[in-house]
Amino acid sequence: MKINVSNATFSSIVGIGQKVKKAAKESGETYLELNRGVNAVTQIELDKIKEQVNFNTKDFQVYAPNLGIESFRKAIAKEYFPSVAHDGFEANIAITPGGMPALDLVIQLLNVETIYFPKFYWGSYSKMATIRHKMFSFYDGLEQFETTQFNDSSCVFICDPSNPTGIKLDDVFLYSAIEKITKTGAIVIFDSPYRKLFTDDDFFDKLAKLDNLIITESFSKWVGLSGLRMGFIFCKNKAFNSELNIRLLYEFNGVSTAPQIIIEKILTTTEGRKALDVFRKTTTENIAKNIDYLHKNNLLVKEMYDDSKPLGIFAVITKAEDYLFQHKIGAVGMDKFVYHDRDFWSSYSRICVSVEHEIFKEFISKII
Ligand SMILES: Cc1ncc(COP(=O)(O)O)c(C=O)c1O
Repeated sequence: MKINVSNATFSSIVGIGQKVKKAAKESGETYLELNRGVNAVTQIELDKIKEQVNFNTKDFQVYAPNLGIESFRKAIAKEYFPSVAHDGFEANIAITPGGMPALDLVIQLLNVETIYFPKFYWGSYSKMATIRHKMFSFYDGLEQFETTQFNDSSCVFICDPSNPTGIKLDDVFLYSAIEKITKTGAIVIFDSPYRKLFTDDDFFDKLAKLDNLIITESFSKWVGLSGLRMGFIFCKNKAFNSELNIRLLYEFNGVSTAPQIIIEKILTTTEGRKALDVFRKTTTENIAKNIDYLHKNNLLVKEMYDDSKPLGIFAVITKAEDYLFQHKIGAVGMDKFVYHDRDFWSSYSRICVSVEHEIFKEFISKII
């Protein structure tokens, strides 16, 4: 069989997950899976939501509109962009089955010469760019950018708080950097699915006023529903949206209705908001305790954080992936999140700190 080989490799994060699960099964011992990129402190309680979903409706049973269910897109507009969300604003929002397909569609669609990823980046970015035959390069930090290097053939990815470092930039600085870049004609892809777990402010609303700005967003992280595969793309550019509409049709033929209906209920009902608040509060409290614990025990990588701390849901610690595995902690070596100096970074690991604090302490205390 002749196939088109992508030259991308399978995600090492998935491989590590399989290795940890296999070791746990074979040894009968418990491993702490900090290799994952999901919140695992608690689950979002959906019992009250379940009661509100009417399964015996056309909305539930029949194809969703190509861009997604209109009331869901309006709810997203109100949630993320309240000051600009007038009737019809949802035309700038397209539902996708998660953040990954949102990113892949954007990478396919943009006619740019160079995509800039952050120096510490989610490995899937470069894999998707490789599959789609796009050139990419890396930037050290937004502080280092010279705007003269940009034009309408450039595109910059921003993930804040960062996967993998958990670092959150100052919002005033972040906004002004995004504004400066987009004013050159370059496109900014704001891919920050961890942000809304921690913040409830008007940052997305302000971003929506900028041209050349694309938001790829996911409900996997801040709403905790990665299994429902829900995300969206926001962009105000009409040519982009018109091409996106076509690609969405031939890619998905309508995204599944059920998760759209469920997440709309979470965003728009009192019961949904309550469940979401409890999920976020419990999750962020445990994350903060876990980060404090790493800080107190000098496990955070100094050259990365100086005296500050990451926000989460990830942190980079001074132990190698294999060492942590020997102590029954699943982690991902930092060499998987950089393109250069991989040997150097392999002695550090990214861990997910979104787990229950007492369990975290029990395992981490063994590596101090
Ligand atoms: C930075 C970043 N963007 C996007 C995603 C995509 O998430 P999903 O496809 O689950 O919506 C992830 C998932 O780990 C991520 O870390």
